[in-house]
Amino acid sequence: MGAPHRKGVLRKEMDPEAAAYTSSSTFDREIYEATVYVNIAHLRALEKLGVISRDAADRGVAVLSRMLRERVELPPDVEDIHIYVETLLSKEVPEAGENLALGKSRNDAVVAAIKIRLRERTLQLCRQLADCIQALLEKSVEESATIFPVYTHLQRAAPATYGFILHAYAVRLYKTLPAFRKVLEECEESPLGSAAVAGTTVPLDRQYLAELLGFRKTGVNALESTASREFIIMAMSALLTAAVVLSSIAEEFVLYSSEEFGLVEVQEELAATSSIMPQKRNPVVAEVMRTKAAEVMGLLTSVEQIVCRMPSGYSLDLQQATPKLWSAFQELESSLRLLAKLVKGVSVRRERALYACMPPVAAVELANHLTLKHGIPFRKAHTVAGQVSRLMAERRLSDEALKQVLKEHGVEVGLGVSEVFEIMDPVKTVERYAVEGSANPRHVVKSAQELLGELVKIREWLENESRVFRETLGLLLR
Ligand code: ARG
Repeated sequence: MGAPHRKGVLRKEMDPEAAAYTSSSTFDREIYEATVYVNIAHLRALEKLGVISRDAADRGVAVLSRMLRERVELPPDVEDIHIYVETLLSKEVPEAGENLALGKSRNDAVVAAIKIRLRERTLQLCRQLADCIQALLEKSVEESATIFPVYTHLQRAAPATYGFILHAYAVRLYKTLPAFRKVLEECEESPLGSAAVAGTTVPLDRQYLAELLGFRKTGVNALESTASREFIIMAMSALLTAAVVLSSIAEEFVLYSSEEFGLVEVQEELAATSSIMPQKRNPVVAEVMRTKAAEVMGLLTSVEQIVCRMPSGYSLDLQQATPKLWSAFQELESSLRLLAKLVKGVSVRRERALYACMPPVAAVELANHLTLKHGIPFRKAHTVAGQVSRLMAERRLSDEALKQVLKEHGVEVGLGVSEVFEIMDPVKTVERYAVEGSANPRHVVKSAQELLGELVKIREWLENESRVFRETLGLLLR
């Protein structure tokens, strides 16, 4: 396909290998629609300027609308989608096509297209995040009373519930949402009218162009608008933050489903077996999910490296950053769908989980009891509870031994072994957790319900944003 813009200073055709090497046509698939919309808007702006006739603009828009309806594969030898659109339009409606680059460069057009697509994908991702958070919250309510250990330093730390752990992940994912909202804000700024680097003498109506495409404002510096990619870094950082949470919960499922922990069982649909050891039930989905933070981090790092080594105006390096963004979305989208399934299907091995919380796991409760009920200073109570735990672990705790420990520390309270076991009972301990935010089922359920309510509002907002955006673009086709 002949490139219209090569009639510039160059006389020779480009080396085919070099053309393929520098082309973005394979990954421009992602911004195909968005680029077509940008060009439709530009035709209308040129019409408004009086550079092309109403009729040429209408016919041009008709050709471009057809491109939307009948998507074509870009030939690999074409430099990019922008050149493809211009070439096609020049053939069909020369008056429109041959003026398409007036006041518009690929440098501003590509940013506009990326932002339009990024907005769509971010809205979609937020919906998926909401699905995942909802799955976690619903399960956390269901399992709010399922006794389950929590760990610090990967040592049994306290009795809690399975629901409490899922709730923690829900909150962690929920807290990533504002970063995506920030990304959406970045996508509201139109670069159009910036042309290649310094703006243009063509008196384009930037506001009009922006509004046609659903942007809410226009950039304040053409150099920044055309060649900054911090908005991509922001988006990928948000994705990375979510991926970190995903990888972390995946790690937890891998660990807990191992026989050594034996606390949960991953549903068969998301597990695999070994080709040689038929007894194996490998948590392969969780294993792959565990890699996603690393994968997204790699993609983000390469974008940061590309961007930080550039002078301020556009260079083709920037083209190479864009596909990393879409790959990062891809990683997250597939993971979020599977995480929602995992969360719904993983089952708790209740007896083992309860057993893992048995005394002395709640040893601190003995210390708390001595301090709160008997006024023993906490540090001393902690020491006593420590010694009692040791006796328990060694199965040497008797009323006599207990009395001895208390006496050694000058703690004059009447306490028997059965009372100690009652104090450290995991079910009772969890019910006695007194503070908001604790693993007490009442606190978990209350917070989960509040967050579920917030999610309804967030979903409404997302739907509204998507609808307004789709309608705005739809108007361009009339
Ligand atoms: N394909 C390019 C990209 O994705 C479009 C901008 C090319 N600009 C240029 N002057 N060659 O970034």
